[in-house]
Amino acid sequence: GDPLKLGLAGLGTVGVSVLKRLGMMENELAMKAGRATRVDAITARSRNKDRGVDLSSYRWFDDPVALAKDADIDVFVELIGGDSGPAEEAVRAAIIAGKHVVTANKALLAKHGNELARLAEENNVSINFEAAVAGGIPVIKTIREGLSSNQITRVYGILNGTCNYILTRMEDDGLTFAECLEDAQRLGYAEADPTFDVEGNDTAHKLAILTSLAFGTEIEADSIFLEGITTITKADIAAADELGYRIKLLGVSQKTDTGIEQRVHPTMVPKTSEIAQISGVTNAVAIDGDAVGSITLAGPGAGGDATASAVVADIIDIARGLFINPLGRPVGELQPYVRAKMRAH
Ligand code: HSE
Repeated sequence: GDPLKLGLAGLGTVGVSVLKRLGMMENELAMKAGRATRVDAITARSRNKDRGVDLSSYRWFDDPVALAKDADIDVFVELIGGDSGPAEEAVRAAIIAGKHVVTANKALLAKHGNELARLAEENNVSINFEAAVAGGIPVIKTIREGLSSNQITRVYGILNGTCNYILTRMEDDGLTFAECLEDAQRLGYAEADPTFDVEGNDTAHKLAILTSLAFGTEIEADSIFLEGITTITKADIAAADELGYRIKLLGVSQKTDTGIEQRVHPTMVPKTSEIAQISGVTNAVAIDGDAVGSITLAGPGAGGDATASAVVADIIDIARGLFINPLGRPVGELQPYVRAKMRAH
């Protein structure tokens, strides 16, 4: 058939890795999907910045919305970021214009995911967002497809690579919080605004998405209990260590008698636990289901290549013609979110 033509918006760490990966696996991709797939047009904030990739064969757009609506594009790949502004406008424009969307934007989905899923349904297009949660770990597909026959009771884990990197290096190398954060930024793990990492917002965005998929509820990010890692000191880490614990920033979502409890906060975990072994930029997600018991997935949670792995897999799904309701069921079938009466923790 005709080649699948991509419009790629955003050429930061992830965007550049996606471009490279698509170029590298062009032939294999055509084989896997039974259809050639290529990047046709691109947009980014600055055209002339040196990114170490040749952009000359792509049509250039200054305006992401214009690219999203372009008649020659079949799929809009949004790697701009941000819960509003250009990313939101362009994703809406793409859906309304009948384009499938692939996005890594957890902030956008946490805020507007219900609405965007409905819009996609109305326009018969797909929104694929495997890269939005836990980078290279295929956790969206695991919950939505792999565990779809389970009643899930709890999902929790380490969902922010930057925070886990900081906590691990403070513990192992005795570095300060500020030194570790700088390294995480240099390695391309942190958000454009790293307060989203260290204050726990990024974990909350990802948790809100996982909660919806696990429990079949509407996405609800605003009511998440939130505490980040900015006040954790070397002394706290040493004190925990002496007691046989490590400090991890966890996102936890569980079903209770009164509703769903979602919370993000630093947690003392016993050194012998599986979650305590997760170090550096690695993420881990544990899922409790009635048929499988407990499953834990661990892998790289941030960084260009790991995130590009998920973005390109989503593109391959579209090229294969694989369409699934983004939130695992028609939006009209989602249960309203009921917040649990919070216990002390
Ligand atoms: N800043 C995020 C993290 C990137 O550190 O996990 C992946 O979403």
